[in-house]
Amino acid sequence: MPKTIAVLTSGGDAPGMNACIRAIVLACEREHHTVYGYLHGYNGLLNQEYTQLHAERVHNLNQLGGTILHSARCLEFKTENSAKCAAANLDALHVDTLIVIGGDGSFRGAMHLSNYWDGQIIGIPGTIDNDINGTDATIGYYTAIETAVDSIDKVRDTADAFERIFLVEVMGRHAGFLGLSAALASASDFVLLPELFESEAATLKQIGEQLSERREQRGNISYIIVLAENLWPGGINKLAEALQSQTQSEVRPVILGHVQRGGAPVSQDRIMAMKLGAHAISLVGTQTNCVMVGERYGKPCEVPLPVTWSEPKPLNESDVNTMKRLMNNRYA
Ligand code: ADP
Ligand code: F6P
Repeated sequence: MPKTIAVLTSGGDAPGMNACIRAIVLACEREHHTVYGYLHGYNGLLNQEYTQLHAERVHNLNQLGGTILHSARCLEFKTENSAKCAAANLDALHVDTLIVIGGDGSFRGAMHLSNYWDGQIIGIPGTIDNDINGTDATIGYYTAIETAVDSIDKVRDTADAFERIFLVEVMGRHAGFLGLSAALASASDFVLLPELFESEAATLKQIGEQLSERREQRGNISYIIVLAENLWPGGINKLAEALQSQTQSEVRPVILGHVQRGGAPVSQDRIMAMKLGAHAISLVGTQTNCVMVGERYGKPCEVPLPVTWSEPKPLNESDVNTMKRLMNNRYA
């Protein structure tokens, strides 16, 4: 039976969100569902700011970064009144199913709404951080790795020319997935991740020892350290200062920042976005509710929303082992 679907993108935007919106719209057209897109994350739900989505609106959208629905943070949405207001607005539009594309914060918002709204809620993981339990990856993560690796490769050219030490800060909020993958793929020399951080003193000692060893073996080479954001007390400049005085070498900090959120999605993100969007629509009208549609071993899966944030997602063990063998080789 045709239903009314609403979709929104919330929290940090991620490449592939548009591909997911396109998949949702096309899958809905096939089932004769009506689709609305709420704008500006949960703000759109509060302000009843929406647009109807048809196939022509999503034509040529698959490869576009960002999100045509715009994204936002909406602190106000945490209140009871906001959730009630959103529920009333969804009912006024006769929405049966709300699809939220976003990160764990957005899923908490969806769960909060479910306390006041009877409709069906489905989450789809979209964040470059990949910090969501229950899914092997999140839409945007693979593209962000490519962007970070491409930038680190460029940093390496200048680092090599000057035989300098470079510190490259990558995003990830409080998770090290992006940092670990980017450091491995760019063959960086050392990586600092929140999941493995011991202390400032221990880290400086490890870097100092490894750098001396490398320079004894290979001469005055460049050295690249990947640093996850929000990790070093006082930030990247403090670490640069400490390393400079410890090594008596020039240290340059680079913050990659929001470039990691932009650009055309890579194929893996596009395919995952399409798969999860289409799968979400296959669940419309079923008893399945308050779940995230994720991907496990290449197949779509459904995970209760609270599971997605209840425990920190562990780093891939074999990636960590590879890193310890080839990069931070002074780690236990
Ligand atoms: P992400 O979804 O990328 O993790 P945020 O953590 O910033 O991003 O969350 C996005 C939005 O989700 C917030 O701005 C807010 O609107 C909503 N949200 C987050 N946590 C809650 C919560 N506990 N209750 C209600 N809404 C929330
Ligand atoms: O969650 C995605 C993310 O890009 C994080 O990696 C980062 O910490 C945060 O969002 C940045 O948020 P903002 O765009 O508000 O600066």
